Order: sequence, then structure tokens, then C-alpha cells
Amino acid sequence: MDKNYWKNIYSKQSEDERPSLFALNVVESIGVEGKSIIELGCGNGRDAICFANANADKVVAVDQCENIIELLQHRYQQVGNLDFQCRDFTCMEDSVPFDIVYSRFTLHSISKAQQHKVILWACRNLKNGGRLCIEVRGQKNEIFKVGEPVEGEPDAFILNDHYRRFLNFEAFCEELRSCHFQIDYAEEQKGFAPYNGQDETYIRVIASRPL
Ligand SMILES: C[S@@+](CC[C@H](N)C(=O)[O-])C[C@H]1O[C@@H](n2cnc3c(N)ncnc32)[C@H](O)[C@@H]1O
Repeated sequence: MDKNYWKNIYSKQSEDERPSLFALNVVESIGVEGKSIIELGCGNGRDAICFANANADKVVAVDQCENIIELLQHRYQQVGNLDFQCRDFTCMEDSVPFDIVYSRFTLHSISKAQQHKVILWACRNLKNGGRLCIEVRGQKNEIFKVGEPVEGEPDAFILNDHYRRFLNFEAFCEELRSCHFQIDYAEEQKGFAPYNGQDETYIRVIASRPL
């Protein structure tokens, strides 16, 4: 939806390359060693690289932006457990199931209908007992309702030429349950992703596909 916005950012290579607190939390709380992981919307690859360094068996990391994926493919071509792919994660074909589907700050970039498609895809493409790990902007986020409302997409706004849709926390958890996920952890609070001296409110959810 916002591909040119991201391509432009990646062409400047100005993004933070340290792993996010969410990735570190996943490594710590779930453990990634020996596991297969797919990251949806990997951006500059910082979290995928963190999982690979933490001895994941295989990390597939997809993003829609050719420029950042080509750079990452070139830079990490010798790293056997890292596979960067240029794909639209809202229309992925089914694959060999993963242990973990990870998505940070990406579900708010797509429409509600696309989000539902992605959740169903995750359910089909996780192993039994596999985990879905999501961090995303919700309606308690400080810039909810700031900007131009998007016609036909409630809770979505354009601010500085950038689309964001703010998830309703309870409705999102209910959507996951309706897709047969069990919620292991769900909070909407500050402290998840402090950035540039600001500590905004975000949703973090870890859910399991039942055994
Ligand atoms: C806010 S950035 C987050 C990057 C990374 N997950 C992180 O936390 O550093 C959102 C990323 O999702 C990607 N993205 C958004 N919609 C996408 C889609 N439909 N398919 C693939 N990538 C997408 C964008 O290109 C961008 O790189």
C-alpha cells in the first residue's frame, strides 16, 4: 500500500539496525534455536538477522521493497539460515509449516480484509503448537485519529503521506480466537518500542496454533 514510502526510506539506509525489543523478547521468551521462522515485512532485516544469530534453523524474511531485499540478499548471501525474499505478504502461497510467524509493525500497513487473510494464512502455515508473534499500532496509540481518514477503511488515517490503520485490541484478540489461535500473551501498553525519546503505546500479542 505504501511501497514507495518505504522504498524511499530504505534508499537512504537510515533505519536502526539493532534488533527490536520485540525480537529480543521472542528470543528470550519463546526461544528460536533450531526453529523455522518467517518474518512478514522484515524492513532492513534487523529482527530476521537477530533470529538467525540466535541459531534459528531457518529464517525466511519477506518484504515488498525490492531495494532493501536486494541489498540484504547480497549482504547475507553466505549466511545459510537466512533467506530474504521480495514478496507481498498479503498474498502468499502455502508452504512447509513454520514454528514461528513473526510480524512487527506491519499489520497496520494493510487493510482489515488483508489482515484477516494474513491471519488465516498464518494459521494454515504454522506447525501445530507454532507461535504467531505480532506487534502493531492499536487504538490507544498516541497518533490514532491524527491525519486524513481513509474512505472505506474505518480506523485508517494518512499522516505525512503514510497509511496507518489502528487495530482495536479486543477485536484483534477475538479475531485470532475465531481463527483457532490460543492467546498466550496480549497487552496494549507503553514500553514495548521506545524510539527517539518517545514511548508510544502499542499492541503485542503472542498466540499459539493449537496442538
Ligand atoms: C514499519 S516497517 C517495519 C519493519 C520491521 N518489521 C521492523 O520492525 O523494523 C513495515 C515494513 O512492512 C513492509 N510491508 C508493508 N506491507 C507489506 C506487504 N503487503 N508485503 C510485504 N511487505 C510489506 C514495508 O515495506 C516495511 O518494510
